[in-house]
Amino acid sequence: MTLGIVGDRNRFAQQLFTPLPQRYDRLAEILSMAQNGRWRRAMVDHIVPASPGLVLDVASGTAGVALQVADRTSAQVVGVDLTTDMLRQGQRNVAGARMTDRVTLAAGRAEQLPFADRTFDALTFTYLLRYVEDPQATLRELARVVTPGGVVASLEFLLPPSRFWRFWWWLYTRLVLPVGGWLTGGREWFEVGRFLGPNISGHYRRYPVDWTVEAWHRAGFDDVGFRVMSLGGGLVMWGRRSGG
Ligand SMILES: C[S@@+](CC[C@H](N)C(=O)[O-])C[C@H]1O[C@@H](n2cnc3c(N)ncnc32)[C@H](O)[C@@H]1O
Repeated sequence: MTLGIVGDRNRFAQQLFTPLPQRYDRLAEILSMAQNGRWRRAMVDHIVPASPGLVLDVASGTAGVALQVADRTSAQVVGVDLTTDMLRQGQRNVAGARMTDRVTLAAGRAEQLPFADRTFDALTFTYLLRYVEDPQATLRELARVVTPGGVVASLEFLLPPSRFWRFWWWLYTRLVLPVGGWLTGGREWFEVGRFLGPNISGHYRRYPVDWTVEAWHRAGFDDVGFRVMSLGGGLVMWGRRSGG
């Protein structure tokens, strides 16, 4: 499958993630202070009660979310991601979990999904909107492929709302993340550690949580809600495709 027109943001994400897949799963847990798994479960909690038949996981990476959806529902799951090396590791993870009959991975851009309108009963996306040029347009594209009434849930890092925790978050992201990345994963993970904090701060300066909730509504989602987790380090958001 080809990826269509790839912009600067896409190229940047591909360059960032291409060297990471081998150690991604373990280091994502370490660098999130073991919170990533909790956040992921909280996001998938919104998908499970809908008992979907076909689920799309966007920015699927090494397929951790796709596998959890397959494990906790009886759905067929399709994962798409921009970075083929992440998908290659994802394929190994799917095979290792004996889920090849339930989880299919494909190259794809969130901005231009290779699927017809209203294809999926549910959709998840994780750590995506910081990497796209136009989060509003991307949310519209995600909404396009979901059937009316279908449930959508996302997970993203967040800037702690309280000044006190934001100070410690700042120290963590500016010092511990780069140094911890270097010690555990070498130069590539140092670069990721150095990039993440300023990237998260910059994203929420442009697109605060209130803006994001409104953007979900404008994209065609109802019943939009969110949960701030781990003192403001993580944000789980959910909604339902209008018209159900
Ligand atoms: C931090 S990883 C998250 C992987 C997985 N969802 C997880 O939670 O473990 C972010 C992923 O987003 C992918 N990505 C970034 N921009 C994208 C885009 N525009 N379309 C599709 N995938 C994208 C990257 O290739 C990367 O695999």
